[in-house]
Parts: sequence; C-alpha cells; structure tokens
Amino acid sequence: MTEEFSKAYWEDHYAYGHDHGHDHGHDHGHGHGHAAGHRQPPNPHLLAEIGALAPGAALDAGCGEGAEAIWLATQGWQVTAVDIADGALRSAREHARGAGDEVAARIDWRQADLADWTPPVDRFDLVCAFYVHPKASRESLAARLAAAVAPGGTLLIVGHHPADPRPGVSPAAVRDVHFTAQDVADGLDPDRWEIGVAESRQRPVHGPDGGERTLHDTVLRARRRTDDRA
Ligand SMILES: C[S@@+](CC[C@H](N)C(=O)[O-])C[C@H]1O[C@@H](n2cnc3c(N)ncnc32)[C@H](O)[C@@H]1O
Repeated sequence: MTEEFSKAYWEDHYAYGHDHGHDHGHDHGHGHGHAAGHRQPPNPHLLAEIGALAPGAALDAGCGEGAEAIWLATQGWQVTAVDIADGALRSAREHARGAGDEVAARIDWRQADLADWTPPVDRFDLVCAFYVHPKASRESLAARLAAAVAPGGTLLIVGHHPADPRPGVSPAAVRDVHFTAQDVADGLDPDRWEIGVAESRQRPVHGPDGGERTLHDTVLRARRRTDDRA
C-alpha cells in the first residue's frame, strides 16, 4: 500500500486503475473507473462555468490525463497543465496528440508537486483545479492558485463536497479532500475578488457496474477585480 495521496499513490492509480486495490473507492472526479487508454470527457462544471469566456492563458492544476486541458486548448486557450504523476502526463500528452497538432501545441505539460509549486503571480486569465488535494495544503494551494490569476481573470475550483461519503479517506486527509465552496471563498479577499458561483451541485454518474449514483461537487468560480493591483 502506498502512502495516501503521495506521488507513488497517484502513479499506481494511473498505472493500474481503480480495480487495483489502492483506490479506496474514489472516483477521482469523473465518476467512473479509471480506464487507461481512452480520453475522458471534460468536467461538466468546466463547460458550464468557462464555456462563455474568451480564451487566454490558463493553468490547470492537477490535470490528470488532461481532459480539461485538452478541451481548453481546443477552445483556443493556451494551457499550462501541471500534475505530480508522470503516468498521468504521459497519457495526457498522448491524448493531446490525438486531438491534433494545433491543440497539442497549445498545452505545456509540467510535472510538479502542487504542495510546494508556486505558479507565476498575476499570470493567467483562468486558473482551474478539479478534485486536487495535496496533503495538508488546501488553504495554501488555494492561495497560490488565486495569486496566479491576472486582474480580471477567473479562478475555478471544483472539489468533493462533504456530502459525498468517502469511506476510504483517512480522518487526517478528509478535510483536504472534502470542502465547501464557502471554505474556499473564505480565503478570498472580497476587495480583490467577486464571487460568481459558490455552491454544491449534484451530478449523476455511472459506475463501472452500470449503476447510477449521485455525486455532490463543490463549485467555486470567482473573478479577480480588474482594479486589483495589490
Ligand atoms: C482526483 S485526480 C483529478 C484529476 C483531474 N483534475 C480530473 O478532474 O480528472 C487528482 C489529480 O491530482 C494529481 N495530484 C495529486 N497530488 C498532487 C500534487 N501534490 N501535485 C500535483 N498534482 C497532484 C494526481 O496525480 C491526479 O492526477
């Protein structure tokens, strides 16, 4: 057993998938078993929240196999996509190549540990993170991601809402994995941020056995005020 949510844990996840016994019942966002080789659809909250934005520079923190980064690049975004797991990035690169040279050329894949990686400040028109929870660093990561948003840019954080049972998550990790939109909003200075969406949303998903269940996602979308040059 690899340490919960360590690099080794995530490499195992991408190498062996959900049925390998390391997964503690997680669905890792997409709501179905991990199946290496085929590209997952992008997260529905990305399409709902970002679909109307004019493309610019985007950061996808904890990009996994790249479904969201590739969708953004397809829309014309220039994307920096970061993940700790080399296995995830390998698949992501392959999926991006499958989406065509033009799309692949718009994505800069980077291996980094978000527990201590600091993205460039004031840099991105969009910073997004989907179900990313480095150990003991939820507030610190949110603050670093927020600082990377340019004035007028958008922060989109999607996570697992506390209403979702996660039987395999240890008590030590649970507060990093499950959080509310208000938890994130509390870290954003209202003089600098305008909260667009801060809510829990239900999402039906199909398990590998075909059965349907409902997930509860935390969705936080905030816009950095244009007059904020702090
Ligand atoms: C639950 S998955 C979500 C992946 C993707 N965002 C999605 O929605 O499908 C969490 C992702 O975060 C990555 N991750 C976990 N801890 C990390 C860390 N400390 N630094 C960078 N990436 C990390 C994992 O490798 C994994 O790809």
